[in-house]
Amino acid sequence: MPSPASPEHVTQAATVRGLTKHYGQGDATVIALDGVDVDFRRGEFTAVMGPSGSGKSTLMHCAAGLDVPTSGEVTVGDTQIGHLKDKELTQLRRDRIGFIFQAFNLVPTLTAEENILLPLAIAGRQPDADWYARIIATVGLESRLKHKPSELSGGQQQRVACARALIGQPEIVFADEPTGNLDSRSSAEVLAFLRHSVDEFGQTIVMVTHDPVAASYADRALFLADGRIVGDVADPTRESVLAQMARLDPRFLDEDVAADQAAARRNADDVEHPTERTAPMRGIIDDSADDFSSEDVPARPRHISEG
Ligand SMILES: Nc1ncnc2c1ncn2[C@@H]1O[C@H](COP(=O)(O)OP(=O)(O)O)[C@@H](O)[C@H]1O
Ligand SMILES: [Mg+2]
Repeated sequence: MPSPASPEHVTQAATVRGLTKHYGQGDATVIALDGVDVDFRRGEFTAVMGPSGSGKSTLMHCAAGLDVPTSGEVTVGDTQIGHLKDKELTQLRRDRIGFIFQAFNLVPTLTAEENILLPLAIAGRQPDADWYARIIATVGLESRLKHKPSELSGGQQQRVACARALIGQPEIVFADEPTGNLDSRSSAEVLAFLRHSVDEFGQTIVMVTHDPVAASYADRALFLADGRIVGDVADPTRESVLAQMARLDPRFLDEDVAADQAAARRNADDVEHPTERTAPMRGIIDDSADDFSSEDVPARPRHISEG
């Protein structure tokens, strides 16, 4: 289902042209983006990968209108966002873009349902009842709607954040390391939901990740290094992503192997022995057996090979 706000004639959900972003001045200048051109096609799920510091978050923030580039142009639908006044840009972010962050960013005092409906409430829009029901069912949160974030597992919280990102039927969803704080099972749930929203609702998604398994859920994997796009892989698999990483730059692989090993360790002693990375979620992760049924887990997409 195309998002109502997307003009039908525009086949790109967003385009980025000649994007540069410099931080600091003089000798201290950091070139975070060094001339990036990319199209995000409508209804496509793109993974953005690259070593730490390669510019992934900066690209996402500039493309989403959260940050202002040093030069270059970003177009969302047929709107050049560099030409917008502050108020118009705020409205564009609110009405036409969805966000998912690594740290969930839910409002702790609101229930899951209130969190999901918050963007619409702020915009003064009524939720479409059918759409709301569909999103809630897809994300598998029917029985959790009255719970506060602190009463939900990390995976459930991120599914609330996913539902919140999609409720306004945005033209494009940007997700920055959405599975970075999740164990592998919760990651699979969130990724399956994102995949499903692309396949069933025609959602456009751009997801920053350094996890080759997460990237394998996408239709396309872009590789950034030193602020430039250095690779573009269609229908990525974990293996093709790892191969591309190794080919491009040994740093990709070193970092990734280390991350894989760290993730394996985290998953091995999940919950009982939270690592430093999961410690802020102590008491929040509660995937105890009685809290979790296998029906909660959306099916993995078929093109994902087990590995
Ligand atoms: N606010 C900032 N001030 C100065 N340098 C920054 C800022 N944000 C990012 N950078 C630098 O820009 C580069 C790209 O950062 P980032 O986009 O966060 O990379 P990634 O998300 O791939 O890890 C890095 O060298 C980083 O240190
Ligand atoms: Mg980042």
